[in-house]
Amino acid sequence: MPVYDKPMIYYPLATLMQAGIREILIITNPQDAHLFKELLGDGSQLGCQFSYEVQEAPNGIAEAFLIGAGFIGKDKVALILGDNIFYGAGLEDLLQKNTDPDGGIIYGYHVQDPQRYGVVDFNEEGNAVSIDEKPANPRSNYAIPGIYFYDNEVVKIARTITPSKRGELEITDINRAYLQKGKLKVSILDRGTAWLDTGTFSSLMQAAQFVAVIEERQGLKIGSIEEVAYKMGYITKNELKDLATPLLRSGYGEYLLNLK
Ligand code: G1P
Repeated sequence: MPVYDKPMIYYPLATLMQAGIREILIITNPQDAHLFKELLGDGSQLGCQFSYEVQEAPNGIAEAFLIGAGFIGKDKVALILGDNIFYGAGLEDLLQKNTDPDGGIIYGYHVQDPQRYGVVDFNEEGNAVSIDEKPANPRSNYAIPGIYFYDNEVVKIARTITPSKRGELEITDINRAYLQKGKLKVSILDRGTAWLDTGTFSSLMQAAQFVAVIEERQGLKIGSIEEVAYKMGYITKNELKDLATPLLRSGYGEYLLNLK
């Protein structure tokens, strides 16, 4: 599914790549797995390593750490949701600083409609005190965006949690476990950052419009994995050219060819 001029998955992938993460496990439903593999391959064309697993049923976000346990091994890990779009100055630096957590690192972002999300509340010192999944009466306006960084404990924690009322292994329960241990850092994503989700018809349309407005104004693209691979030094100019050539007719290839 596209968001304006590129597949939705490009945006979260580009975000991970900007954070300096190049070994990425893509978890999809069984039906669509082949489409993602066809689109993204093994990642070597972007100087990355992509691997794939399927989630047999929508059992919740936290199941990623059970499905991905072998992939994670003894490492720390980041998780990003395939329908979350992040954009803003300073984001790249912020994410890069958070890739080596002792415990968990999540974010808080001020939104109008917190009841649609995981919600974090803070005390007067600015420390997180509670986390609730889709509360009917949110204690704050701070939603928790779908990007999370954890140490290796996350795999063990994921094995201890049980399905919620909606029948899902909740990422919120993982975050609560870290919070209870005093091992959860919550950073605020400031208002200059855009966090968009594409989980409703209207938010999907808004995300596409946002991308179109910024891209047409600046002549610079949001979420271009080829551009990020090049700018991060994962691929050479010649390799970028090879990626661009088959895409010339859409205009996307021309954009890549013109990158300095
Ligand atoms: C999920 C998480 C929620 C988080 C949101 C971000 O919600 O459960 O905590 O705030 O992603 O997009 P879901 O996609 O399951 O509605």
